[in-house]
Amino acid sequence: MAAPSARRILVTSALPYANGHIHLGHLVEYIQTDIFVRFQRLRGNRAIYLCADDTHGTAIMIRARAEGRSERELIAAMREAHLADFAGFQVEFDHYGSTDSDANRTLCGEIWRALRDRGLVVSRPVEQLFDPRAGVFLADRFVRGGCPKCGAADQYGDSCERCGATYSPADLVHPTSTLSGATPEVRSAEHLFVTIESLHGFLDRWTRESGALDARVANYLAGHFLGDPLRDWDVSRPAPYFGFEIPDAPGHFWYVWFDAPIGYLAATAEWCARHGESFDAWWRPGATPAEIHHFIGKDITYFHTLFWPAMLEAAGLALPTKVRIHGFLTVDGQKMSKSRGTFLLARTYLAHLDPAALRYYYASKLSGGIDDIDLNLEEFAAKVNADLVGKVVNLASRTARWLESTGLSAAYPDDGGLFTRAAADSVEIAAAYEACDFARAMRAIMLAADRANAYVDAEQPWKLAKAGPEAAQKLQDVATVSLNLFRQLAVYLAPVLPKLAADAGGLVGGPIRSWEESQTPLVGRAVGPFSPLMQRVDARQIEALLAASRAEAEAHPQGGHAVDTTTPSPAAGGDPGAALAAEPLATTCTIDDFAKVDLRVARIIAAEEVPEAKKLLKLTVSLGGDTIRTVFAGIKGFHEPTALVGRLVVVVANLAPRQMKFGLSEGMVVAASGAGAEGVYLLSPDAGALPGMRLH
Ligand code: 2FM
Ligand code: ZN
Repeated sequence: MAAPSARRILVTSALPYANGHIHLGHLVEYIQTDIFVRFQRLRGNRAIYLCADDTHGTAIMIRARAEGRSERELIAAMREAHLADFAGFQVEFDHYGSTDSDANRTLCGEIWRALRDRGLVVSRPVEQLFDPRAGVFLADRFVRGGCPKCGAADQYGDSCERCGATYSPADLVHPTSTLSGATPEVRSAEHLFVTIESLHGFLDRWTRESGALDARVANYLAGHFLGDPLRDWDVSRPAPYFGFEIPDAPGHFWYVWFDAPIGYLAATAEWCARHGESFDAWWRPGATPAEIHHFIGKDITYFHTLFWPAMLEAAGLALPTKVRIHGFLTVDGQKMSKSRGTFLLARTYLAHLDPAALRYYYASKLSGGIDDIDLNLEEFAAKVNADLVGKVVNLASRTARWLESTGLSAAYPDDGGLFTRAAADSVEIAAAYEACDFARAMRAIMLAADRANAYVDAEQPWKLAKAGPEAAQKLQDVATVSLNLFRQLAVYLAPVLPKLAADAGGLVGGPIRSWEESQTPLVGRAVGPFSPLMQRVDARQIEALLAASRAEAEAHPQGGHAVDTTTPSPAAGGDPGAALAAEPLATTCTIDDFAKVDLRVARIIAAEEVPEAKKLLKLTVSLGGDTIRTVFAGIKGFHEPTALVGRLVVVVANLAPRQMKFGLSEGMVVAASGAGAEGVYLLSPDAGALPGMRLH
């Protein structure tokens, strides 16, 4: 429970587009934001983390068409996939909305009204390329042609990769629509613009004086945009367009970048409605204002530091307290690349590696600045193994077992001031978290871990254990110190490693709920049975991740990554009568008997081999929302694990969990097999079914 003096902090990450899967580049932001929110809560502040899918625009419309389904079917399926990916990385939102919601439509209307009332909307014709075959206006990236300046062939509609020239797509030499291959026509259509120049003075002041932006960002904006009159912002698109039709301009739709940031407001409104809170208490400037922190990538700085504050100001809403801008992710020093197998999807990572490892690695690289961060896979393995396994977990694994029967010592032993010294580090570590300089926080935590390990090395509890009863008290004391130092580190690491913190609490002392728990050692407590808290990262796991990513890239070279199920074709040949003959129908059951079995649609979010098992694949399935299960399925040899990821299956969801040699199986994936054809055939629902739907 937050204290009355606690800060109220509304935190957002950029809304991911609904036309692609979450990859490790996206996760730099979501993990970073999640760490910040968890830190604030641990400190006793009231933080809410809001996000949503960014669902509108031409790209979604085109992709839905290509997949032969409606935009809404596509965005519903992608939402499930996004939520499963986030849950897999322990990124926990208080609310995850959609820009295609009623709340967003209403809020877009309100902001639009405010802009109109202030006389900030004007209309004028715009010439744009139109694809006569596909019947759509073409966004710049759907047109390619020769550079009008240097003549380089096959350039995008807005800029030349060879000479860097920027131009309008209509200037391209022999332009071609990438959608249909047709030659686009120049067509004129009315567009609506917001004249943000009238807010220039406000933006000058806000960018420099509000404290929301780093000086570097404010200077960039002053140098690149605010030195000249601000160009009108084109906020409408003519039909056909997937989005909200503008109520007072039929046939015209708000441009995706108009309704996307309003999605932050809509997510707040939906969260408030669910929790009986007041929207105004978060978004209207008041006597005790809430803080608003937006986490974004550097590529969308312009939208969040000029257009968005201008819209909020015009609508009389609160302005961001901080826009926290980060850089991009490179992998092994280069842009993520499909051909190198380094275009790493969240779900592919989850099939091979522990999410905690990436959370820690990112934390150790993020310093709150705008520089890019590099995922160096060798360094990743080395750092996780050395720091988390070798230093942190090791403290517990070397000593916890000696306390299983005795518990912690009744009084805190003399530890040479180690606990007190690490407790004093709290100030520096908290300041680093607050500044999003997680790298500095991790360094301070690992220094404390080094000191703790040096203590255990010096005390040599394994020798005390062999020394017999006269050393028993000393052994208990050394283990008590070690476990307390471990738990103290777990408190500091809790924002980054929530699972490790929960496991540490399970081992000793109960759930970690407050930063203050780093300040006082525990005594006289029971110690639970020790189970391994974290595995070492093995080079083979990384190789498998790269191989799976390469295979995915080959299967989806254009980035399609289907989000729906595909029904495998029936085996050629096969005897249709044989299965029934070999296995006659079972005796009749009642509808009530059948109702006992809870069959649900589920999406496979990760699939991996169980090397020691001949027939089993380990599947991670999402039943919708946050419900994720592990299921061992006897389908090895009939299905490639990577090809299964993303497809829908049917799961017996209420089957009693079964402890197997390889882990706990929490359900069963339904599949057909029998005489007449070799194979195990997974069941798939029709397109449109969603995880969590029950089979009746
Ligand atoms: O760049 C992007 O991925 C956008 N979908 C971010 C939108 S953030 C906000 F403005 F909605
Ligand atoms: Zn050029």
